[in-house]
Amino acid sequence: MSNTSELIIQTMIKLSCKKDVISFAAGLPDSSLFPINDLSKSMLRVCSSHNLQYTAPSFKLKNKICKIMDSFLNLNTHSENILLTNGAQQGLSLLINFFLKKHYNIVIDQYTYPGVIQILNEISQLTPNKIKILEYGISIHKALKKITKDSEKYIYYTVPNGHNPTSKTISKDERKEIAKFADKNQNLVIIEDDPYHWICYNEERYDPITKYTKNSFYVGSFSKIIGPSLRTGWIIGDTEIIKTLQNMKDMSDLNNATFAQHILADYLEVYSLESHVAKLKNIYREKRDLMIEGIKKYFPPYCKYEIPHHGMFIFVEFPSHINLSKYHMDIASEYKVLYIPGKTCSLNKESDNFMRLNFTLANFDQISKGIEKLGKALYYYYNGF
Ligand SMILES: Cc1ncc(COP(=O)(O)O)c(C=O)c1O
Repeated sequence: MSNTSELIIQTMIKLSCKKDVISFAAGLPDSSLFPINDLSKSMLRVCSSHNLQYTAPSFKLKNKICKIMDSFLNLNTHSENILLTNGAQQGLSLLINFFLKKHYNIVIDQYTYPGVIQILNEISQLTPNKIKILEYGISIHKALKKITKDSEKYIYYTVPNGHNPTSKTISKDERKEIAKFADKNQNLVIIEDDPYHWICYNEERYDPITKYTKNSFYVGSFSKIIGPSLRTGWIIGDTEIIKTLQNMKDMSDLNNATFAQHILADYLEVYSLESHVAKLKNIYREKRDLMIEGIKKYFPPYCKYEIPHHGMFIFVEFPSHINLSKYHMDIASEYKVLYIPGKTCSLNKESDNFMRLNFTLANFDQISKGIEKLGKALYYYYNGF
């Protein structure tokens, strides 16, 4: 991600906090849905001098994570395979740096999570050949086969459910094919970043890639379902590598925010994550549908998009001659509506005819008004449809 892209994201996050601005830019959950009452009770229960002291990462939370991974994701794991991290972001940074030091190449999707682009920024400038990019929309396992050489080692980073930014969910068969390829070619490791697994709008949910291969690390997070400021995520993977990552982590932060871990462990013990998530999903589904309705009504008829099965985003494609980076700051200041141009989520993309829209942060009224405004702005800046 260029410095300009970082600047765009910083500016968007700052603008998102302004009262008269409607933001579809940042990937934030709806703060009115945080389980404040239950978390307050958990916090009071665990607030003790012991829990405010330096302590080992919460064993209880690791066990809770094992339980939820088993019951929600069919992934059987043990506490020694889990590293608790300060959010998924820290987990991704640790994993990517660990493998880069071991001379792995990194394969990413053409459009990918901007936080990972940030991690890769320096490496993409110093040794651009280390980064391979999978073209948007093609079969992943076939592309992996094509891109990788037997003599080299690779990590493939992806978001299997409600991908950020493309909103795609990898099919069950594709997951198995990717896992099969990783198992066969011991030189490929998968980093499966899955913060949106929980926010699933369909009955059918697929098991993670990590279930099908040992050459994979699963990265989870409570940010999108409970609250991002708790900064609690986790990595599941090979015990020895988990120990090394723990050392790498401790070098930079000494200890996790263990107080947040105690709160979460209590919350998961006493309350039902399932019913909390069910509530979130119902509201987010309605928001998603309202945004789709608005896009159908106010956006140019040639726009293409998929209805997301998971997550928080709609990724809208415009014809290739339309450059959505060109006026998006003008649209922000004149129309007070924010979106993220696809280019911000890409290391190599020159043309910029994609738009990432977040539908979870804005309220219903803002979604209706914001999409109408955005449609008018697009009409104005792109000379009619
Ligand atoms: C795909 C993806 N991975 C990781 C993160 C970071 O999550 P956390 O808050 O747990 O660090 C995000 C946040 O937007 C994300 O979209």
